[in-house]
Parts: sequence; structure tokens; C-alpha cells
Amino acid sequence: MPLLDSALPLAAAPMAGGPSTPALATAVSEAGGFAFLPAGYLSAEVFADDLAAAHAGGRAFGVNLFVPQPGALDPDAYAAYAAAVRPEAEALGVELPADPRHDDDAWRAKVDLLLAHPAPVVSLTFGLPDRTDIAALRAAGSRVLATVTTPDEARAAEEAGVDGLVVQGPAAGGHSGTFDPRRPVPEVATADDTADVVRAVAAVTRLPLVAAGGVDGPGAVPVLLAAGAEAVAVGTLLLRATEAGTSATHRGALADPAFTTTVVTHCFTGRPARALRNGFVERHHAAAPYGYPELHHLTRDLRRTAARTGDPHRLHLWAGTGWRGAQARPAGEIVRELVAAV
Ligand SMILES: Cc1cc2nc3c(=O)[nH]c(=O)nc-3n(C[C@H](O)[C@H](O)[C@H](O)COP(=O)(O)O)c2cc1C
Repeated sequence: MPLLDSALPLAAAPMAGGPSTPALATAVSEAGGFAFLPAGYLSAEVFADDLAAAHAGGRAFGVNLFVPQPGALDPDAYAAYAAAVRPEAEALGVELPADPRHDDDAWRAKVDLLLAHPAPVVSLTFGLPDRTDIAALRAAGSRVLATVTTPDEARAAEEAGVDGLVVQGPAAGGHSGTFDPRRPVPEVATADDTADVVRAVAAVTRLPLVAAGGVDGPGAVPVLLAAGAEAVAVGTLLLRATEAGTSATHRGALADPAFTTTVVTHCFTGRPARALRNGFVERHHAAAPYGYPELHHLTRDLRRTAARTGDPHRLHLWAGTGWRGAQARPAGEIVRELVAAV
């Protein structure tokens, strides 16, 4: 049985924070792809509504959870970084939270909801949870996938009892799923680098694999399938899709030739993520401490305001290296075109 139950070997990757919407999921499913629903950043109440709507849709789907992060950012490092980014907040009329906030993204409540209303697939990112949670989700009937970025992480995930892996390559847009946020991610990368990671992971595990990262057009999909993935997950190429919830500011930046490169930076959330290089990155990347979710909470309101007011230089412009291929079209057309060469 394939890991993802869809006619086409193509998935809409989970994109928390707005881009993934029920309309995008429906459009991708109707085109024959597999849709992931992100639970990250949502309250348990909002997630419960999204989960119920996905069940009511009557199609197979996946839910994606952020695994809680260990540790907490040193308050002095937080205060120093808050002072550094304060001018950005002041420019937008936003107040920064005074104290660092660490939370677990309502992990327990979200897992409990999934145990009561199992999704066909649950994917995890940012590391591995307690293996009893993996076992419980599986016992409830979900196929559990862990996001991994190296063969070592793949071995650990297999050991923890998952059913399959999302192999995320270094070209991927948004947060890296790395288990070690301080491990450097290569700046220059393409879908070919994802294919290399897929081959390296396939050499150490027999678990079924989904490949993600750097798809820039139809040519990348057969390359990733030939490397050993049974499906390919696409994020960035759907960011400008008609049905996506991507902000107008983010959409505009993706189409703006003034943005010329992506970088991997922890300056927005305290965890490495690939984004278009903008003013905020230039001003703050070098001094930013690691500390997720404290930095996420620190910069969240200023980023939201930047998105709302059309300021692309104070916003996390998540993008994979294939961003130039992102088109403003219906998602179904994008999906069908991507698999045309398969
Ligand atoms: C805007 C955005 C949000 C993302 N949010 C999540 C998320 O909530 N969970 C997750 O596992 N991955 C997330 N990712 C990573 C994607 O799931 C996927 O690995 C990546 O988009 C694949 O690379 P590509 O963007 O080059 O297609 C996000 C990516 C983007 C671009």
C-alpha cells in the first residue's frame, strides 16, 4: 500500500502560517495529489475545526505537527535580540513581548484530537516525539511519517517506529525539519541535492520515502522519484496558487525580480528556515540567537503587521530555491503540470 493514498505521486507539503488552506487542499486532492494540513501555530480549537472539515471532505489527507522543542532560550540572549529588533517593531507601531515565551504548540491537545479523530497520515517535523505518542497515533490507525534531513535522522526515526519518512533536502522553503537547528544547511542547493539526500537515506532504511525540497518545475519530479521517493512534496511552487492563503506581500515578493536569492536563517523564529533575502535578514541574521519558539513569538506581531501593511522587508518570506518557478495559477493546473513528465 502506498504511503500516501492519492492517484498522483505528488503532495502539497504542509505550510503553516497561512499558505495551506482548505481550498488549496481540495484543489490538490481533486487534481489527484495528496494534501497535508498544517497544525503548526494553530490553537487546539482551530485545529479541531480544521481536522473536522478535512474529515468531512471525504478524501485521504495528512496532518502535520510541530514536535515540541527542548530547552529554553537564555533570557539575556532574548533581551539582547529584542533590543536589536525593537527599531523594526517601532517602525511598524508594534509592541514586542517583554518576556521570552516557550510553548509546545499545544502538542498534547493536538495528539489527543488525532487519537479521537485519526487522520489517515500524520507527519512530524522538528525532531521526534516520545515514541509512545508515535505508537498511539499508529494504534489509532494513522500512518506516521517523520521529517528527516540526514541518514542519521532517518535511522533514529525508524528506530522510533514510524511508518515512513519525509526526506527534506537543503533547498526546501520554510523551516528545516532538522533535529539539530545549529547544523549548517548549505546555502546553494537544488532538487538534485534533495535527490542526493533521498539516495543516502534509502541506503540506510527500507522505510517508504516522500521527497521534499527545491522542486522548481516538472523536471525535478522524475529525478526525485528515480532517487527512491514514492512521492514528491511541493511547497514553494504552490505559494502563489490561486487557492493558497499566502499574503499579498509574500506573493508580491516571490514575483519581484528585486529579490535575487534565498538564505537559510534563524533570525525570524530561532530555527533555520529558507527565505528570500530581505532587509530583516540583512540587518539581523548575524546577531540572532537560536531559540525556537521564543524568537517566533518575539517577532510574530511585527511580521504579521508587515504582511498586512505591505512591507516585504520585515516579513519572513519563506521560499525554496525553486521560487522563480512559482506561478499565479489554480493549484490543480500546477499539480497536473508537475507530474506531466512522470
Ligand atoms: C511557507 C512555508 C511553510 C511551511 N510550513 C511547514 C510546516 O508547517 N510543517 C512542515 O513540516 N514543513 C513546512 N514547510 C516545509 C514544507 O513542508 C516542505 O518541506 C518544503 O516546502 C519543500 O520544499 P519546496 O518549498 O522547495 O517545495 C513550509 C514551507 C513553506 C514554504
